Amino acid sequence: MRKTLTQFLVEQQRVGAPQQLGFLIEVVSQACVTIANAVNKGGIEGVLGALDQENIQGEVQKKLDVIANDIMLAVNGWGGHLAGQASEEMDTIVPDAQTGGEYLLVYDPIDGSSNIDVNGVVGTIFSVLKAPSAAEGRVATEADFLQPGVQQVAAGYAIYGPQTVLVLTLGAGVQAFSLDRETGAWVQTSEAMQIPRKTKEFSINMAYQRHWPAPVSRYVAEVLAGRDGPRGVDFNMRWMGSMVGDVHRVLTRGGVFMYPTDERADMTAGKLRLMYEANPIAFLVEQAGGMATDGARRIMELQPERLHQRTGVILGSADEVALIADYYSKA
Ligand code: AHG
Repeated sequence: MRKTLTQFLVEQQRVGAPQQLGFLIEVVSQACVTIANAVNKGGIEGVLGALDQENIQGEVQKKLDVIANDIMLAVNGWGGHLAGQASEEMDTIVPDAQTGGEYLLVYDPIDGSSNIDVNGVVGTIFSVLKAPSAAEGRVATEADFLQPGVQQVAAGYAIYGPQTVLVLTLGAGVQAFSLDRETGAWVQTSEAMQIPRKTKEFSINMAYQRHWPAPVSRYVAEVLAGRDGPRGVDFNMRWMGSMVGDVHRVLTRGGVFMYPTDERADMTAGKLRLMYEANPIAFLVEQAGGMATDGARRIMELQPERLHQRTGVILGSADEVALIADYYSKA
């Protein structure tokens, strides 16, 4: 009989994980089941397509972006375990009315929105921080969220693909749970996801090649040269248009995922958001034995200045990320 997420969380509580954290993860996992059902309905329920509005990122919102955000807000809003929530889809934080909540929850409710209308892989990414407001008996503020990634107490994503899988870390390795749609239970399917140190697979959007910084251009040129080039082996390339999809592959079989900053005016800080994309994914990648940098610095050590701050991302198999970081250091 496979272990369920609930059993896993009870076991973690027996070895010291806070009960409220276990409850939080349970609630988030239930929100992801509801989101998975909405994603799965697609055109049947008319949830595809875009709205005539933009989010704070300046991106046209998809119907599912807002539906998923509303689900996360509602499902996580009643338990009293949160001091506040923040999301890619909301301008600022939503503090919880009660002041006892010990945690802050930050999320991208639908990552990979451009994949929604073409039935591509999408996911939900979430990050859990301790709430400074709990000890001070006050309502949470936006400043409370601006903690570096090393302060995360948990992180994970749900990937809505052929299988619906929840990948989670509480700081003791990376576990995976697959959704059994017949029972509605998350069933453990991996006890410790590990990223191989070496890989022959890279992931980057080649369309922006002319804009890349020199270290990325050098690295990609070398892997494209294949067995006749400096690497001496042929590489494969994948790009799914959804960080969750590419990262799940990296966590499963290794690889290096790159979304660097580049010279374009709107890309000098990068595309991916630090608080609810880069940090939670970096936590998972490091817990699985990989590395996650912005090219030069460890992502989880970046001090956020703003809630929707962006960052460059180079992550995955440790030896590859270290090689790229070396090229950055010499640039
Ligand atoms: P969003 O959630 O706003 O769709 O952004 C998705 C991110 C990330 O998931 C993915 O790797 C990247 O954007 C894809 O960017 P390009 O479309 O520029 O390739």
